[in-house]
Amino acid sequence: MVLSSSHSLKLKYVSLGVLVLQTTSLVLTMRYSRTLKEDGPRYLASCAVVSAEVLKILVCTLLVFLENSFSVRAVNQLLKEIVNKPIETMKLAIPAGIYTLQNNLLYVALSNLDAATYQVTYQLKILTTALFSVSMLGKRLDFHQWLSLVTLMAGVTLVQWPTELEGDTVQKFLSAGSQFVGLMAVLMACLSSGFAGVYFEKILKETKQSLWLRNIQLGLFGFVFGVIGMIVYDGQSVNQLGMFQGYNTITCMVVVLQALGGLVIAVVIKYADNILKGFATSLSIIVSTLISYFLLEDFNPTG
Ligand code: C5P
Repeated sequence: MVLSSSHSLKLKYVSLGVLVLQTTSLVLTMRYSRTLKEDGPRYLASCAVVSAEVLKILVCTLLVFLENSFSVRAVNQLLKEIVNKPIETMKLAIPAGIYTLQNNLLYVALSNLDAATYQVTYQLKILTTALFSVSMLGKRLDFHQWLSLVTLMAGVTLVQWPTELEGDTVQKFLSAGSQFVGLMAVLMACLSSGFAGVYFEKILKETKQSLWLRNIQLGLFGFVFGVIGMIVYDGQSVNQLGMFQGYNTITCMVVVLQALGGLVIAVVIKYADNILKGFATSLSIIVSTLISYFLLEDFNPTG
């Protein structure tokens, strides 16, 4: 499908706007879903990751059918581009594996850090994305762009600055330990986000296959890796209580928001780029910080 340049420009800004909304809602809903105290088992994050992958594949397949007016051409296209081109399809195994790891890491992070600290620290991915864009795509950044990246890093460091902990020694130890685990998870997710995003951008912009087909290829591997992760980490639980144990409305919202995020991000990477995507998502810091402070009351900013 060839789009006019004004249409592409519109898609670029609309998708960036939707990304801000989606990121803010996802981080708050995910945090809320991990801290909600309910009777019965809590839902398994590894299963939620798999559910989101399945939803993404279904939506992208539907979009391919829509593009082909629900004719037999859609089936032919899926066969020709995915089944008959195994090497092209295999290229997506790399970002899919990394994204699966990252999607699981984010649940670890949000189980151990408050929404605002998580969100601000995760913005370090702008720096990793910029570094990978320069080294893998040959992008050039001017002085002001580098300066804003350094300013961002300084901000992230300030947020992580240790504050005096209250309570007894055990409590102190536990909360510091948990902060450390959360922080390590976010830092690894930053590296993975930068690399996988730029790798996907390279594939999307250097080859001709459609965005939705590329997303189905990515999703298929994501699904396979996700299921492996689910069996390795939560196999026993899944065996006993099933994949959808602990699911409630909030869990379904998290899954839908995560799947929607994948789709919006793919559009953003195609019509804008990964660096712009990073700045768009940081806008959502301000929004989720305010909500975290006023509504969830789990974030108390110090000086
Ligand atoms: O934080 P970051 O921007 O790296 O998050 C990217 C998210 O988007 C991941 O959850 C990844 O699984 C998803 N994604 C996707 N489809 C794409 C690109 C990214 O589902 N084409």
